[in-house]
Amino acid sequence: MRLLVLGGTGFVGGAVVAEAVRRGWSVSVLNRGLHGTPPDGVRGLRGDRTAPDGLEALAGTEWDVVIDTWDGAPRAVLDSARALVDSAPGYVYVSSRSVYQQPVALGADESIPIVDGAPDAADGEYPQLKAGGERAAAAVFGERALLARAGLILGPGEDIGRLPWWLQRIARGGQVLAPGPADLPLQYIDVRDLATWLLDQGAAGTGGAYNVVSVAGHTTMGGLLAACIAATGSSAELRWTDPAPILAAGVVPWNDLPIWIPPGHESRWLHECDTTRAYAAGLRCRPVAETVADTWRWLSAVDDVPPRAGRPSRGQVGLDPAREAELLAMV
Ligand SMILES: NC(=O)c1ccc[n+]([C@@H]2O[C@H](COP(=O)([O-])OP(=O)(O)OC[C@H]3O[C@@H](n4cnc5c(N)ncnc54)[C@H](OP(=O)(O)O)[C@@H]3O)[C@@H](O)[C@H]2O)c1
Repeated sequence: MRLLVLGGTGFVGGAVVAEAVRRGWSVSVLNRGLHGTPPDGVRGLRGDRTAPDGLEALAGTEWDVVIDTWDGAPRAVLDSARALVDSAPGYVYVSSRSVYQQPVALGADESIPIVDGAPDAADGEYPQLKAGGERAAAAVFGERALLARAGLILGPGEDIGRLPWWLQRIARGGQVLAPGPADLPLQYIDVRDLATWLLDQGAAGTGGAYNVVSVAGHTTMGGLLAACIAATGSSAELRWTDPAPILAAGVVPWNDLPIWIPPGHESRWLHECDTTRAYAAGLRCRPVAETVADTWRWLSAVDDVPPRAGRPSRGQVGLDPAREAELLAMV
């Protein structure tokens, strides 16, 4: 199989490339060559997708699967799709569940409306950029565009630092502010399971929109933090705390305490969507213990979370130690 990854040297693209190489596929990546080094045997095509001549390296190429991880201005997706429409059977766009119009009903599937976002927009907020990217892929490839609406993505190589923050915090030991309830259901996808699904569906010529994330309750907040303790071998003590005092102290869910969204919070939809379609199309999600242990192994080897490849930083993730100590004294 001849695979082209538009991007391919960051978190998601890197996992796609690694899995395709493992399968023995012929893999090429198109990027500026500024971040990361693709594995041996991967062909590096150079181009800046925001520049007028940025896709010249694609001229005369032929592909069996194309996967695009772009999350900037949709115009770049439109240009790439147009450049590839006669040389690829389909177009896989790594989208996001952020495209859905708020409020999203708990348990909603892919049929609910998505936000505005033009396929040729030059800028916008993240949901609009991703929605515009979907429209750009679909405008050119029609039903041959696969819109993979990933949920929270975790696993080795994570460049936002959500699971890495929990791992490093728990490895440090002592009392850890554990936001309750411990049985809070979580929904995420291991980047390697996402990569497998993208490659399988790209090869099968699947089209349409899919929520690509584990079932709600694949693990719980308690399950995730227990897996962090097991992986790090830490003697940390989890101090399970009700959401009310944590929120009253001004803690911002999701950012200050990564991954955590308290029950009843307006953003709880992030952890409770319908994934029937993706599972019916072969999605398989590995156990949380494996994701967490492998992420810890990776993090221990690299020392710290890498910068995002050619993407804006998402800013500080997780409480700093002094603020957490203050909160522990308060709640
Ligand atoms: N993290 C999550 O929880 C989450 C959840 C849902 C969806 N998603 C989606 O998952 C995707 C993550 O993608 P990723 O960043 O991990 O992808 P990636 O393909 O691994 O890395 C980004 C690539 O883009 C290239 N690039 C950046 N600017 C470029 C330019 N102007 N021209 C050409 N290439 C350029 C970078 O290389 P150079 O810099 O060398 O050019 C790099 O290879 C995004 O679409 C995001 O919306 C993420």
